[in-house]
Amino acid sequence: MADNEREFITTGEQPDIPRSKWSGKLAFILAGAASAVGLGNLWRFPTLAARYGGGTFLITYIILAFTIGISLLLLETALGRKTQQSVIGAYASFGKKYRWIGKLACIVPFIITPYYCIIGGWVTRYAVGYLTDGPVAIADGGGFFKGFITDPASSFAFMLVFMAITFIVVAMGVEGGIEKANFVMMPALLVVAVGISVFVLMQPGAAQGAAYYLTPDFSKISPALLVGALGQMFYSLSLAMGIMVTYGSYLDKKESLTGSVASIAGFDSVVSFLAGLMIVPVAFMAFGSADAVAAKSGPSLMFITLPGVFESMGGAAPIIGFLFFLLVLFAALTSSISLTEACVSIVADGTHWTRRRSLIFCIVVIVVVGGFVNAGYNVLSFIQPLGEGSTLLDLFDFLSNSVIMPIVALVTCIFVGWIVKPKTLIDEVRLSSPFRFAKVWTVIIKYVAPVFMVIILVSYVAQTFGLVNF
Ligand code: PHE
Repeated sequence: MADNEREFITTGEQPDIPRSKWSGKLAFILAGAASAVGLGNLWRFPTLAARYGGGTFLITYIILAFTIGISLLLLETALGRKTQQSVIGAYASFGKKYRWIGKLACIVPFIITPYYCIIGGWVTRYAVGYLTDGPVAIADGGGFFKGFITDPASSFAFMLVFMAITFIVVAMGVEGGIEKANFVMMPALLVVAVGISVFVLMQPGAAQGAAYYLTPDFSKISPALLVGALGQMFYSLSLAMGIMVTYGSYLDKKESLTGSVASIAGFDSVVSFLAGLMIVPVAFMAFGSADAVAAKSGPSLMFITLPGVFESMGGAAPIIGFLFFLLVLFAALTSSISLTEACVSIVADGTHWTRRRSLIFCIVVIVVVGGFVNAGYNVLSFIQPLGEGSTLLDLFDFLSNSVIMPIVALVTCIFVGWIVKPKTLIDEVRLSSPFRFAKVWTVIIKYVAPVFMVIILVSYVAQTFGLVNF
């Protein structure tokens, strides 16, 4: 059977058809890490760390990721491997009435992929910009960025370039495309991240920023910090959207689940840590003090502040700027590939179309929706769905990250903790490795995670509608 046929027979609810398999545990870990490491690590994490007290945020995040995050990651992959089904079939295999949970999870990649590719297009523009326009043109205090996103043709074109690279890799299949791309991009990403961090730390003024980032100050713990760290953890680990259930279903019963999820969470956290280590000191150099960093850091950190600081580095500016955006581009691509793959397997499962036909369908949907959301920055900028100044992208981000994902995560924990019972999945985990933390895991899934999920959901929604202001 051709590689892409073999890899992409997604069985839906017909377990008699042979399922696709990872070529090994390493491929599974890399794919999970590739999906996890993305714009969330390089853009969102440093912004949140800068805003919420540096080290305080870092420690809170790490604790959450290695308790609740890793527990949910294990839950999802074990559910997939046990049922040998993609996400809808996985829930339905415990009873048809649970199918809706899988369906709800399936909506998420269709919401995220289009807008993810828009930001991917911005990153592509910057990487190219360092080669063609040069660091001075880019570092003009925000004019370059604004000019680009408000230009309908150019922003749409770069979104398409980013999408095209993604679609080509997905079209080449799991082993032929996705695995190969991950094997190249993931190690490259790590090397560049370490290199840039070292370079940044050697700059005058960086030490103070690094100290802010590495020293926790527990008086800075706040509800906003906790909610921010929780939301970040979900997004970064690609939880609550079915991807990890599907990936787990491709994993051989003899490969250790505990070891694999620990590696995925570890890889993801290391990249977030490094991203903070390069970006928080840069914010410090730009703004001068911890308070100013906390007050002024926002989404513009990567696209406006950072190029400004790079430009002040003189001769090194073009190369450092280019390498930095190349690094972000790699991270964004591995995630968008994984998101598109999720969309394709959902369509193939639901319709029993061939993989090729499902991919073409997904491409059309992603391009059309992406075009629409992108227009929210220019020709449709009068649509401000979440209040003054908000964009369609904000709406899509809000719906997926703040509404549907916490709901899916909450329902999943209740489903496994109280209906299916944790023992079912503990037995699955123990098929391939000892599971010393089974008791702790059970407590997290049954009690801790659901409570935290309700907190995120209520606070995000309340915050968005202006009921509370963190
Ligand atoms: N985890 C990715 C990031 O941090 C985003 C993502 C979410 C990717 C969901 C795949 C699925 O950027």
